[in-house]
Amino acid sequence: MEDLLNLKEAKDLLAWAASQNPGAWVAHSQTVARAAGTIARACGMDEKRCEALGLLHDIGRYRGKASFEHVIAGYDLMMEKGWPSAARVCLTHSFPLQDIRVYHGTIDCRPEDYERAKGLLARVVYDDEIRLIQLCDAISLPTGVTVMEKRLLEVGMRHGLSPDTTRKWQAFLDLKALFDKRCRQNIYRLFSDEMTRDLFG
Ligand SMILES: [Fe+2]
Repeated sequence: MEDLLNLKEAKDLLAWAASQNPGAWVAHSQTVARAAGTIARACGMDEKRCEALGLLHDIGRYRGKASFEHVIAGYDLMMEKGWPSAARVCLTHSFPLQDIRVYHGTIDCRPEDYERAKGLLARVVYDDEIRLIQLCDAISLPTGVTVMEKRLLEVGMRHGLSPDTTRKWQAFLDLKALFDKRCRQNIYRLFSDEMTRDLFG
């Protein structure tokens, strides 16, 4: 934990990014932040840091409607700000499998940025903060926390499926099992009210 992530600055930065490119991604990021803070508290991680990382994981979307480009744009913005841990989260949040080839979506950045992201991703050492944001990204809709299967289906419907999809889904399910164990309970219990509303209306 080599940088001092500041929750207020993360909120301000997300508000700025939202003004550059408004969209459902902003409310999704707020759900990810809330989920990350809640799970962090339940398993003894730093709640405020995890909340800030959740707010910032998709910050590269400030550049506009983009697919893969938001990954490297977020990484670069966070490195400029001096927040390498947030930069690593921007880079890794879609990669429970640490392999750039399993990205579901369009590779819409410059070829040199793709190669740079490939090298950076291969070198990141995954830690619990990275894993927690990957998990929260996979259970967070703009409207609130939901079951992972619903969110993964929603992403699959938008981006289509690939031969790697089931391996990737399994990696997300493994992340849930990991944090269930860390929290000594099914993490869905931490969100039972909003999940009940989401699933049963
Ligand atoms: Fe996300």
